[in-house]
Amino acid sequence: IDSNKTPDAKMLAICKLLKAEVPHYDWVGFYFKNGDKRELKLGQYAGAPTDHTIIPFGKGICGQVAESNENFVVPDVQAQDNYIACSITVKSEIVIPLFLNGENIGQIDIDSNTPDPFTKADETFLEFVNFEVAKIL
Ligand code: SME
Repeated sequence: IDSNKTPDAKMLAICKLLKAEVPHYDWVGFYFKNGDKRELKLGQYAGAPTDHTIIPFGKGICGQVAESNENFVVPDVQAQDNYIACSITVKSEIVIPLFLNGENIGQIDIDSNTPDPFTKADETFLEFVNFEVAKIL
């Protein structure tokens, strides 16, 4: 990742890299708390455009992570009641909160077209990615 780039350009590069290099990562994006509002706003992403650029806290997997501050691994999205579908091809999802100075300010969200692909290794890896991203914000 080119150190001369802006934070947005770096995050876009990270999204593209993760999507390209990890076979079970089919959509990779960052959501961030939208100012003082109790909602998330879509930031940089790689993959198909989504209508869900604003997600209220509590809604969907992303909105639940905004409130829980916990990793959320969904092996089968169809089994979730509180889920926002972005694409019918998506089978599973992982959302990892992003902390800056101990505060949950956003998250990385990954959709997969593969059923039940995410392991503890994905959680650990994506926690590391978010830790590194927090340093460039
Ligand atoms: N599926 C997410 C919405 C975001 S899209 O996956 C890009 C959710 O339920 O919060």
